[in-house]
Amino acid sequence: MSDSTTTPRPLPRTPALSGVFETLAFFRDPEFATHRFRRYGDLWETRLLGQRTVFVRGAAAVEDLFAQGDGLEGWWPVSVRHLLGPLSLANRQGPDHKARRRVVGQLFTAAALRRYAPAIVALVDDLCRELAACGEPVPLAGRLRRFAFAVIACSVLGLDAQERDGLFLDFEAWSHGLFSVPLALPGSPYARAQQARRRLLARMGNVLLRAQEAAAAGQPTSTGGLDLLAGGLDEAGLPLSDEDVVDQLLLLLFAGYETTASTLVCLLMSLLQHPAELAWLQEELDGLTWPPRAADAATAFDPTRAPRLDAVVKEVMRLIPPVGGFFRRTTHPINLAGVAIPAARVVQVSIAATHRLGAPAEDLEAFRPQRHLDAGGCGALLLPYGGGERVCLGKSLAELEIRLLAVGLLKQLQLRLEADQDLGLTIIPTPSPRDGLRVKVSRR
Ligand code: HEM
Repeated sequence: MSDSTTTPRPLPRTPALSGVFETLAFFRDPEFATHRFRRYGDLWETRLLGQRTVFVRGAAAVEDLFAQGDGLEGWWPVSVRHLLGPLSLANRQGPDHKARRRVVGQLFTAAALRRYAPAIVALVDDLCRELAACGEPVPLAGRLRRFAFAVIACSVLGLDAQERDGLFLDFEAWSHGLFSVPLALPGSPYARAQQARRRLLARMGNVLLRAQEAAAAGQPTSTGGLDLLAGGLDEAGLPLSDEDVVDQLLLLLFAGYETTASTLVCLLMSLLQHPAELAWLQEELDGLTWPPRAADAATAFDPTRAPRLDAVVKEVMRLIPPVGGFFRRTTHPINLAGVAIPAARVVQVSIAATHRLGAPAEDLEAFRPQRHLDAGGCGALLLPYGGGERVCLGKSLAELEIRLLAVGLLKQLQLRLEADQDLGLTIIPTPSPRDGLRVKVSRR
């Protein structure tokens, strides 16, 4: 942590009066932050959409940020805030936020993961069968998106395939409006997203009701986790209302689906682009059994049993973090890495830039999973799941899903990259290869 006794340095500012040019550059230039980090250092302020925003990278500033208590609160752009809903834990602060985290966190305990794991194994096998049956080259990204959605819908909500499909369509419409201009003009992405939100809440309300009726009748619940939320209390010690629970479920779909789908597609793409690293990983996979025994499925491929897989996952998320940054808002003036940050600033921590900061810098640009097995780690601060009081709540589920998919798929199928495709990444909403990662698939 930085020394609090020295006088803090002033915060460098980009020349942005109204912020219009900065906002345009932000949306158009994927290197927006990188250029400015080079010019102004690890912390600087600009104006985006009329909001004074401080960009931050590097271990010193991030560690100081996580050590702030009341000086910070959670923050999301207006469109996200409204579409997530007022009750969502993402929009709550202080004790209120902590109480919701405790309730929702029950969906991601070790016991909950043991319950979900066999269903995820079955979804991996379904996907492998489907891919092996395709005679033609397949764009893998779309299949992996469906898979990632199915994992949450099936593990958390306990939905069957038909119910998942209905929810998926509404969810896609909702997520298209997330980072749009928050004006509900007829036919605009934001207006369509608002309508989709109403349908999604109604659908999830029905699922919740069904789970409650089954529990009241003493019937076995589905394979989902909704019963784990029963008994959850808010900050005043009262049971959560159904509207509250449904808003938390929508947050889980939002937070857990695109992120995991992006990791899966980037993991397979990176391995196919680096055959030596794929062969290195395959040596380890040859010693593992698929499918894992149901009783062990939640831990069969954890870092102690599959250290190379762990290193590959870390390296993919280091170089292509699914979430490029996360936000906080200062409620008081604070110091980060010896720099003074005024109150009422949005602080955006750049995960991607932090992951590439360390020595030697050129080496951190390369895909080299082995670096994570070196004594002392990779040399950069890794934050793919954020950190502090708002660190990702679904990390354990995401990691389980990624490991099961990687082992199940790479042990059963051989993938070959199709020539003539654009493997450059679109970044919004999450990184994904432009042509959808077209591969030829055969059984191993
Ligand atoms: C590879 C997959 C994932 C990545 C990279 C990821 C990353 C993140 C990041 C960066 C944050 C913000 C943390 C912060 O502000 O400090 C976050 C928050 C969150 N994530 Fe994830 N996430 C992933 C998967 C999941 C899954 C599968 C779920 C649940 C199904 C989930 C649920 C959440 C929730 C509920 C929050 C909000 C926590 C809060 O505000 O207290 N995430 N995640």
